[in-house]
Amino acid sequence: MDAATKRQVAGEIEFSPFTEHDLADISRLISGMSDDDEGLQLRDKSAAYYRWMYYDNPAGPALGFLARHGDRIVSSFAVAPKVMQVGGRRVRVGKTMDMFTDPDYQGMGLIKQCAERVFAAAREAGVDGWYVTPSVNSYPIFTGKWGYREDFDVIYRARIIDLEAVLTAAQLRLGRAVGRIANAVFGPLLRRSPKLPAGCTVTELPHFDGQTDALWEEVGAGYGVAIVRDATYMNWRYVDNPDEYIILALHRAGSLEGIVVIKTTLRQGLPVGEIVDFVCAADDSAIVRLLTKVAVGRCIELGCSLVEAWAIRGTWLDHQLMRAGVAVRRTHVKFLISPEYPDPLIYDKDAWLLTQGDGNDV
Ligand SMILES: CC(C)(COP(=O)(O)OP(=O)(O)OC[C@H]1O[C@@H](n2cnc3c(N)ncnc32)[C@H](O)[C@@H]1OP(=O)(O)O)[C@@H](O)C(=O)NCCC(=O)NCCS
Repeated sequence: MDAATKRQVAGEIEFSPFTEHDLADISRLISGMSDDDEGLQLRDKSAAYYRWMYYDNPAGPALGFLARHGDRIVSSFAVAPKVMQVGGRRVRVGKTMDMFTDPDYQGMGLIKQCAERVFAAAREAGVDGWYVTPSVNSYPIFTGKWGYREDFDVIYRARIIDLEAVLTAAQLRLGRAVGRIANAVFGPLLRRSPKLPAGCTVTELPHFDGQTDALWEEVGAGYGVAIVRDATYMNWRYVDNPDEYIILALHRAGSLEGIVVIKTTLRQGLPVGEIVDFVCAADDSAIVRLLTKVAVGRCIELGCSLVEAWAIRGTWLDHQLMRAGVAVRRTHVKFLISPEYPDPLIYDKDAWLLTQGDGNDV
């Protein structure tokens, strides 16, 4: 569209909150614009996913706005609330979701206008701030235009299981040959499943129940900033989700000590084990290391080439992941928080329990 047409079209755009009737169109807009190829499969992007994410959320429905040109949805943006604890207070914090403008309509101020409406609606609903995992396209908008804060460095920590596959996918010169030799030498070590200490057992849970509530009740206060990982949230996030997750519970002498959630994805054509969530005490490093090893062991059984988890660099969880052998720094994750949140603790990296499940890519 040339500038004159864009000016004319801008006057024809209508903004409105989205409704359940828009989910199929939102799914179509976002699936059509996502750069997923055959080698990348993270999460579902179907209308069923958006129904679950936007309307079934126990923290309340998402606050979302659309821009329409005629009967075509040309821009969409939402904030999904999460029940979090911040400095001992239970509050609703938002996670921004799926920010898209149809390429024909970009640069016309549509996301700006959708976002202004979404943020006003969120504040109206008592949500005072939100965190963002921006793309390369939206990062300069959030940081440069809207002043979002980037107080900590979120990374993927990874453990390589199949060096040949990973080095081949990385397209390094001689990668495959080096990987093959390395696999022959280190493979048995890398694929070794963890040994559990005496008295410990691991079981796969079909869903979360009162024991999860009791565990979170016991350990949750140890975190300054965290999504409340009670059974209601965990069941919505991992059991009702149209995607599949594996929930592993660690018991010691019959008592539930911790939970780890994993999922398999495909990245660059490789099967990847994602450590998605933990429920465990912040001050019991041995348990989080054990849960990490249990997760890695299951990912090995599932045939994953790589296992990875989010970590805020330099925090206790980052150190424990490394000590559990998930130590390679794979890549940086852009993670921003809206400015002027009423409690500055939200900007303190050491206060957070942050996992991939807090995001929405897997
Ligand atoms: C990112 C995206 C949503 C922006 O939508 P848009 O409707 O074109 O954005 P707007 O026209 O409302 O621009 C908003 C502001 O950001 C600025 N802006 C837009 N793109 C920018 C960029 N790449 N770099 C810097 N600033 C940018 C605009 O100039 C405008 O600033 P202003 O308010 O001072 O005039 C759109 O480019 C898109 O859908 N990209 C592909 C999908 C994607 O990456 N989405 C983000 C997922 S988190």
